[in-house]
Amino acid sequence: MRDPAAFHREAVEHLRSQVPGRAIVATSGGIDSTAAAVLSQEALGDRCRAIFVDTGLLRLHEVERMQTLFAASHLRVDVASAGDRFLSALAGVSDPEEKRRRVGETFIRVFEAEASRFGADTLIQGTIAPDWIESGGSLRDTIKTHHNVGGLPKDLKLRIVEPLRDLYKDEVRTLSIHLGIPAPERQPFPGPGLAVRINGPVTAESLAAVRAANAVVEEEVEKHIADGSLPRPWQYFAVLLPVPTVGVQGDNRVHGKAVSVRIVESSDAMTATAMDVPMALLRTIAERITRELAGQVTRVLYDITDKPPATIEWE
Ligand code: XMP
Repeated sequence: MRDPAAFHREAVEHLRSQVPGRAIVATSGGIDSTAAAVLSQEALGDRCRAIFVDTGLLRLHEVERMQTLFAASHLRVDVASAGDRFLSALAGVSDPEEKRRRVGETFIRVFEAEASRFGADTLIQGTIAPDWIESGGSLRDTIKTHHNVGGLPKDLKLRIVEPLRDLYKDEVRTLSIHLGIPAPERQPFPGPGLAVRINGPVTAESLAAVRAANAVVEEEVEKHIADGSLPRPWQYFAVLLPVPTVGVQGDNRVHGKAVSVRIVESSDAMTATAMDVPMALLRTIAERITRELAGQVTRVLYDITDKPPATIEWE
């Protein structure tokens, strides 16, 4: 982008002419949707409400982290707490693509409900060019949903406005620097969240377990990043495997589940390498997860598979 100030001016004018009434803007905390929200609030003022959906599928303290980030971007964002809604939409579903579809659909239903409460007929999204080019020219055709808001249902009740739809990622970065949006170093996190970090059906118990295990992985890896003993990985997380596995607790044999720890290096997620991390780090992670989730998790594995042949996520 040669002139972010010119893009900024034109986008604000364009939003004003495209949205005569009220709009909601979908913010995920990512750089694209944050930039779209900043432009929208500037263009529409009180006619625009930014919404962050708490899906209940987020990591520990993620809502608070997002609120700090939004505040630093001078964004006013309302949190829509929809954990129960997502949990019931996912009940009994094991197929990963079906999980993605249901999460995407539930996002849209939550946005429709929020829009209706606010009297808005328009949904503003931070879709950028690769999102719709990769999905065959139109977001409506998306099948594999590598987006925060997955395939849009055909009966969508909202008009969609996408102020960034012609931009590429590096252009959004330039624009967000111009807009004063901070860009903390953060690992990618899938839109369907912890739902795709649980192999098998998502329940309140499995969500709590994977969230706690994931927090241990993040904390321990981040300690090593902070003291310089580990370069920042591309992604580092826990996956809950529904494999019954035996452990010992005192004099008893207990059956729990397994947790797989994934720590990968990558530059673009197209390929990835399982990271050669210190064994002491893995031992600490295993010790903490089996202790903090005693009775629920009896075994911790380190995934040493590269991409390809594996993918970064387990499903
Ligand atoms: P895979 O597992 O295909 O992942 O090697 C490549 C990158 O995409 C992320 N990922 C997703 N992101 N929605 C997202 O927003 C999804 O459904 C999804 N699935 C995978 C993954 O974390 C990795 O960074």
